[in-house]
Amino acid sequence: MKHRAVTTSYSIGKGLILQADAIKVLEGYEGESFQLILADPPYYQVLVEQEWDNAWQEANDYLEWTLQWVRACRKVLRPDGLLYIFGQLGKREHIWLHVCSALTREMQFHDMLIWDRAVGYNERSDSFTPQYEMILALRQTSDARPHFDKSVVRCPTIKNYSDLSTGSPLQGKGGAGKSSAQGKVRHQHSTHPFSQGGPQKKRWGIPRKNPSPL
Ligand SMILES: C[S@@+](CC[C@H](N)C(=O)[O-])C[C@H]1O[C@@H](n2cnc3c(N)ncnc32)[C@H](O)[C@@H]1O
Repeated sequence: MKHRAVTTSYSIGKGLILQADAIKVLEGYEGESFQLILADPPYYQVLVEQEWDNAWQEANDYLEWTLQWVRACRKVLRPDGLLYIFGQLGKREHIWLHVCSALTREMQFHDMLIWDRAVGYNERSDSFTPQYEMILALRQTSDARPHFDKSVVRCPTIKNYSDLSTGSPLQGKGGAGKSSAQGKVRHQHSTHPFSQGGPQKKRWGIPRKNPSPL
C-alpha cells in the first residue's frame, strides 16, 4: 500500500492516523481493504471561519466533490462493508438533504442513525442549533449482508433486553418505569427512547415572558 500526499502520520497502537486529502489517500489502497469507513465530512459553508468548510464556489461543486470521495470510498470498501457518513439538518445545513438523495442513488441505503447530542450547542444566535446529527449508513449493493454484532453495542446495564418489552409504550401496555430494566437505563434527558412514557400528562402552558430578540 502507498500513501500519497500524506502531510502527517501518527501510529496509535495497531492504528495509523494519516492527515491528508482523503481522496488521494484512498487511491493508495487496494480494493476491498476496509470493512467500515466512517466519514465526518465538511458541512458546506456552515462554519464560516473554517477554510475547509468554504472550499467550493457553489453547492453543486460540494455535491460533486462528495460524489468523488464517496466513489473513492466505495472502491476500497469490502462487499460486506459499510460507509457511515455524519451530517445534520439545520438552517444552514439543508444541503444534507441533497447529499442523502445523491448518495442513496449512488449506493444502497442501509440505515439512518441518530446521534442525540441531548442539548445541542450554543454558538448560534440566529437560529435553533441542531440537537442531533444523522449518520447515513450505506452498503455496496442491495443484496450485501454487512457484518453487525449487536451484542457489542448493547447497554451494559441492561441484563435482560426482553424485560424492556414489559410496559413498553410501543406495545400499548403502559408507560416507562414499569420494569426495573427501564428504570436502570432512564437518562437525564427526555429524548432517550426508554424514558418516553407515552403521551405526556404534564402541561407546559404559555411562556410568561416574551422571547428576547435574536
Ligand atoms: C466536520 S469536520 C470533522 C471533525 C472531526 N470529526 C473531529 O472531531 O475532529 C470535517 C473535517 O474534514 C477535514 N477535511 C476537509 N477537507 C478534507 C479533505 N479533502 N480530505 C480529508 N479531510 C478533509 C477538515 O479538516 C475537518 O477537520
